[in-house]
Amino acid sequence: METRRIIIENKKGIPDEQLLEAAQVLKSGGLVAFPTETVYGLGANALDEEAAGKIYAAKGRPSDNPLIVHVARKEDVDRLTAYIPEAGKKLMERYWPGPLTLIFPKSGAVPLGTTGGLETVAVRMPSDPVANRLIALAGVPVAAPSANTSGRPSPTTADHVYQDMNGKIELIVDGGEVGIGLESTIVDVSGTVPTLLRPGAVTVEMLRETLGEVEIDPAIKGPLTKDVRPKAPGMKYRHYAPKAELVLVEADFTDTARRRVTEKLKELAHDKLARGYRVGIICTDETRDCYPEGIVRSLGCRAREETIAHNLFAVLREYDDMEVDYIYSESFSGEALGQAIMNRLTKAAGYHIIKI
Ligand code: TXA
Ligand code: MG
Repeated sequence: METRRIIIENKKGIPDEQLLEAAQVLKSGGLVAFPTETVYGLGANALDEEAAGKIYAAKGRPSDNPLIVHVARKEDVDRLTAYIPEAGKKLMERYWPGPLTLIFPKSGAVPLGTTGGLETVAVRMPSDPVANRLIALAGVPVAAPSANTSGRPSPTTADHVYQDMNGKIELIVDGGEVGIGLESTIVDVSGTVPTLLRPGAVTVEMLRETLGEVEIDPAIKGPLTKDVRPKAPGMKYRHYAPKAELVLVEADFTDTARRRVTEKLKELAHDKLARGYRVGIICTDETRDCYPEGIVRSLGCRAREETIAHNLFAVLREYDDMEVDYIYSESFSGEALGQAIMNRLTKAAGYHIIKI
């Protein structure tokens, strides 16, 4: 199968004709990759088990890892859910459309093939105008995981999608670079206490402001032991994994401690470079000039963590392309958006963190 690309030049005034073909592919059970405000998604009709099955095949995704169902209007949630818990209503009111996925008890309309056999369904209403219009034109809810091969960093450009999906899907709708760059926040509102399952741009502080009490799933905080099962099945897999071995160096956020991090990264990189390996260094605009050797990439400005989030996956993919052997990275605050950044980085590192 040849994968074609439809380029959307102007996201503000998208003529429907540009999306009608993609909508038709979705309607007729095919696969279409499209931009959202978080990362690119790989879409199929969520109510068609066979179509959803094609997503698992294209991504090489384990079949027990459920898909997020995307809707164009809040009303469209009703037919997907058995009922909408109060906490869900509040979060929909406050953060939809936007980078927030909610876990609801599912209705009979959603096939188990979409939910990985679970009696709950993950739903999100994206704010990206291309995503929103495409879903509306398809006239069906659209199941869409990130459009990467399972285990690779999520795609933040149409080129990333093409690298992973060429020959496996009908169409890529190219809406340029995404805005946020990390996947949506996931909150389970199907139980008694709302629980954060995956951190994202809607931070836990923002959730608590709306809901009061919010628990944090243990899978977010550290490596899982065998007896703990994550509530989001996807959190158990080694995600966002670059091909190189990635190591994080962490210290306090004082100036002296930060200088020690820089020194440590230089030392680790120097050791491997001296032995002939290709070495990447992940840093920030503030420290970029401190590193004299290695393939140095700044993620952005430490004081503006949204820039770090935006560039993280693209930098990990670039190191894959360059076939780097080792990557050493500075670490981030773990507060607010930093929680999502550190969650992705620590998972990419397989929890290999040097604390100094
Ligand atoms: O930003 C995003 O959420 C992107 C864009 C395309 O919308 N999508 C995305 O999907 O990141 P994916 O499949 O890469 O991640 C979905 C996560 C997985 O960890 C999965 O286990 C979890 O959501 N999930 C889906 N349905 C669930 C459910 N019913 N209960 C618990 N976790 C669920
Ligand atoms: Mg994913």
